[in-house]
Amino acid sequence: MLRVTVCVSGGGTNLQAIIDRIQDGTIRNAQIVQVISNNAGAYALERAAKAGIPGICVSPKDYPDREAFNEALLAKINEVSPDLIVLAGFMVAVPKQICAAYAGKIINIHPALIPSFCGKGHYGLHVHEKALERGVKVTGATVHFVDENLDTGPIILQKAVDIMEDDTPETLQRRVMEQAEWVILPRAIDLIAAGRVRIEGRRTRIS
Ligand code: GRF
Repeated sequence: MLRVTVCVSGGGTNLQAIIDRIQDGTIRNAQIVQVISNNAGAYALERAAKAGIPGICVSPKDYPDREAFNEALLAKINEVSPDLIVLAGFMVAVPKQICAAYAGKIINIHPALIPSFCGKGHYGLHVHEKALERGVKVTGATVHFVDENLDTGPIILQKAVDIMEDDTPETLQRRVMEQAEWVILPRAIDLIAAGRVRIEGRRTRIS
């Protein structure tokens, strides 16, 4: 059984998708053992509580400096020894000590087709604003392994979503979530739980 820690910061719709897919059997052989938020008010923590999953807040505001926060976050994760850490809208740069301790075991969902619209400043609604500004006709979402840089780890799954003429950043964000994020993130977890994802250099192989 794959033990999964999910890190969140906001509404938790991706967390909810994982919870629902585990409950309906789409994700096999995986269990969410912990939800961690850097934001005490995150609705994602409510979602975890409703699903009976231990949820905690580890906030940088509660520590004297960033390094103390980084160490506390690592300690909390180590308490449950997850096999996989899922960043589901986690708005905190992953501390280097966590990247090192869990190398090859951290995945992230990004709301664009990496390498488009990713990297510094590309998060949340900004990603969709930039896609509309650039006038691309197709966007989507990417699940990738996390390395020490931003959005540069090996890609696991991607799913494309057409952009409509009358799209706003908000309507586009919602459609990318519904049609892409909530589909490929659970699928990636199921593939990893089945041991079907291998990292080969800068890419992955799915068997
Ligand atoms: C999603 O759009 C995700 O792609 C991005 O942050 C947002 C999180 O939304 N990383 P939610 O908290 O899962 O609803």
